[in-house]
Amino acid sequence: MRAYVLEHYGGPEGARLTDVPAPVPGPRDILVAVRAAGLNPVDFKFRQGKLRAIHRPKLPFVLGNELAGEVIAAGCDVKQFHVGDRVFARVAKDRAGAFAEQACVNEEHAAHMPPDLDFTAAAAVPLAGLTALQALRNELAVKPGQRVFISGGAGGVGTFAIQIAKWLGADVTTTASKRGEALVHALGCDEVIDYTTEDISEAGRRFDAGFDLIGGKTLEQMFDIMKPGASIVSVAAIPEPQTAIEDLGGRSALAVVFWIISYAIRSRARRAGVRYRYLFMHPSGSELAELAGLIEQGKLKIIIDKTYPFANISEALAYLESGHAKGKVVVTMR
Ligand SMILES: NC(=O)c1ccc[n+]([C@@H]2O[C@H](COP(=O)([O-])OP(=O)(O)OC[C@H]3O[C@@H](n4cnc5c(N)ncnc54)[C@H](OP(=O)(O)O)[C@@H]3O)[C@@H](O)[C@H]2O)c1
Repeated sequence: MRAYVLEHYGGPEGARLTDVPAPVPGPRDILVAVRAAGLNPVDFKFRQGKLRAIHRPKLPFVLGNELAGEVIAAGCDVKQFHVGDRVFARVAKDRAGAFAEQACVNEEHAAHMPPDLDFTAAAAVPLAGLTALQALRNELAVKPGQRVFISGGAGGVGTFAIQIAKWLGADVTTTASKRGEALVHALGCDEVIDYTTEDISEAGRRFDAGFDLIGGKTLEQMFDIMKPGASIVSVAAIPEPQTAIEDLGGRSALAVVFWIISYAIRSRARRAGVRYRYLFMHPSGSELAELAGLIEQGKLKIIIDKTYPFANISEALAYLESGHAKGKVVVTMR
C-alpha cells in the first residue's frame, strides 16, 4: 500500500510517499481503508524530531495521527464495529499510521462517523476536536457565564475550541489576525483581539479560564489577563510534571525533566495566582462519539482550509507548517 513514511528526522526530505506492507490488525483492532486523513502540527514536529524525548519509534515509521475511512476487517475481540462501518479516529500516538491507504486502529480510539458527514470533513475532527474538548471541558471545567480566553482561535484547534467553549456557555475572546477575524466571529466568538496590532494584556478584561494554542510571549501575557484563581491550559508551551504523570503514563524521570524546564512558567503562574497545566491530548472513541453527536445536532461546524490529494501530502504539510491555516488541512486518498 502507499504510505507517507518518515525515514530520518529533520526537514521535509526526511519523509516520502512509498510502498510498504499493509498493517495486520490485532485482536482489538479494526483495519480501516483510509479515505481521508487530517494534518496537524504534531506531524511536522514529529518529523523534525522534536518529540523524541517522549516517543522514539524505530524508523521507517508511517506518519499521520487522524483519519476517516471504512472498516475492511476486524480483530476477533472487536465488539463495536463491523466491516463496512464508516469510522473516524485519532490513532494511538505510538502507532500513528494514518497517512496510508490502510491503517489499524484500536476500537477504543474509533467512533462511528455522523451519517451525513463525508470522509474529508470527518478526518478533520478527531485530533483538534478532542484537544479542544479535553482542554475546555475536562481540564478547565468551563461553566456557563464564564469568560474564556483562547489564543490562536483561527487554526485547526482554535476553530473547534471557540465552538466548544460557546457550547459550554462561555463568553469567548480570541486572538486572530485580520485574515482570521471574520472566521472566528462566524464561529460565535464574542470578541476578537488582532494579535498583530494589539497587546492582549492591554485589553482591560479579566478571564476565568485560558486555553493557550500559541505559547511563548502570548502565554506569558495571558497570566496578566486572568482573574486570581483562574486556570490556563496550554497545548503549545512547556510541559510540566502533571503532563508526564497524567498524560504520558506516569513517567517519573520525564516528570523531573518537565519540572526543571517548566520552573520559570510555573513560578510565573504562582505569582499571578493562576493554575498552569500543559495537556497532551489522548485518543478517545467515546469522546469522539460525543463530538459526532454535536456535529449531528449542528452545534459543531468543521472548518476546512485546504484539501490535497494524497499524492501531494508533502505540499499539504508544507502549507500547514507555514503556520497560517484557517481551520484544518486534509488529504484525500481517492
Ligand atoms: N499538546 C497537544 O495535545 C496538542 C494537540 C493539538 C495541537 N497542539 C498544538 O497546538 C498548537 C495549535 O495547533 P493548530 O492545529 O491549531 O495549529 P494551526 O492550525 O497551524 O494554527 C494556525 C493558526 O494560528 C494562527 N496564529 C499564528 N500565530 C498566532 C499568534 N501569535 N496569535 C494568534 N494566532 C496565531 C494563524 O493565524 P494567522 O495566519 O492569521 O497568523 C493560523 O490561523 C500547535 O502548536 C500544535 O502543535 C498540541
